[in-house]
Amino acid sequence: MDDVYILGIETSCDETAAAVVRNGREILSNVIYSQIETHTIYGGVVPEIASRKHIEAVVPVVREAISQASMKIEDISAVAVTYGPGLVGPLLVGVSYAKAYAYGCGKPLIGVHHIEGHIAANYLDNKELKPPFMCLIVSGGHTHLVNVKDYGAYEILGRTMDDAAGEAYDKVARAIGLGYPGGPKIDRAAKEGDPEAIAFPRAHVDGDEYDFSFSGLKSAVLNYLNSCEMKGEEINTADVAASFQAAVVDVLVGNSMKAADTYGVRKFAIAGGVASNSALRKAMEDACKERGILFYRPSPILCTDNGAMIASAGYYEYMKGNLAELTLNAVPNLKLSGSV
Ligand code: KG4
Ligand code: ZN
Repeated sequence: MDDVYILGIETSCDETAAAVVRNGREILSNVIYSQIETHTIYGGVVPEIASRKHIEAVVPVVREAISQASMKIEDISAVAVTYGPGLVGPLLVGVSYAKAYAYGCGKPLIGVHHIEGHIAANYLDNKELKPPFMCLIVSGGHTHLVNVKDYGAYEILGRTMDDAAGEAYDKVARAIGLGYPGGPKIDRAAKEGDPEAIAFPRAHVDGDEYDFSFSGLKSAVLNYLNSCEMKGEEINTADVAASFQAAVVDVLVGNSMKAADTYGVRKFAIAGGVASNSALRKAMEDACKERGILFYRPSPILCTDNGAMIASAGYYEYMKGNLAELTLNAVPNLKLSGSV
């Protein structure tokens, strides 16, 4: 069979990204224009500014992705784009551009679910990984524990009841003065701190053993900071970061391994921005090793939003003939398709 080259476009949040991937597994280019600097001064992503930045960046980013792959537009087999979930303005930029591109070049269009993209990031770095496997997706907007039954077929076992794991990182980082984006900053600060210095709660959701909740932990950190301030005690930022991170990682690994034991899984993967966290990677790897489970994680650059993961997920949709019409629209609260 001829090689399949998918152009993947991602604009759901604050990264304008495009990539070319061969046969769903081999990255030929992966261009990421991050808007983090722009949003840092506001302490978080401002949707309207993000949309405008995507409009400015999408054309040069896609051109660069095609050029770095040493390809011409006509060599591309299909155009895959994230159409949800995410911020509606940013999503619309990518979707509109991808539709125009596909129409103009006479190429098929593929709509990709953002979480499906995060899961597929694992296929790029682990060529031997094939479903079935279990995957924990932890990002700024999502915390999902999923059984990947096949390409494009998912069973959601658990999800967050309130804040996503990355959202908790970002909010706590802001509270302790580390700024945006919180995840990488807490990760770094925690290396200098004692994870047992402060006993923050490990939340478990009653009746749903695989669900997550992080808002109580966030409140516990805020209460701790307030009480230190009232007592005039100095706050050790590194200890707060390390203790908060230990609580997040404990719950993520605890619920994941409970599910892995119950379902008897042989392969476990992590995905999403928080999957680049050094403590989570280490704890998950150790827990899997203890159980003889094969552990997979994408390299850090493929954990956060990128076009290659969208191209990889798009490849498997393309192979199934799941093509989108030119009526494709942005769906900010899109559910994971194929989930039961
Ligand atoms: O997947 P992603 O790029 O975007 C979404 O789909 O949300 O994830 C971004 C999230 C942010 O909340 C960021 O703080 C978090 O991932 N993150 C991290 C780390 N790097 C990024 N969280 C913890 N540790 C990290 N090293
Ligand atoms: Zn993401």
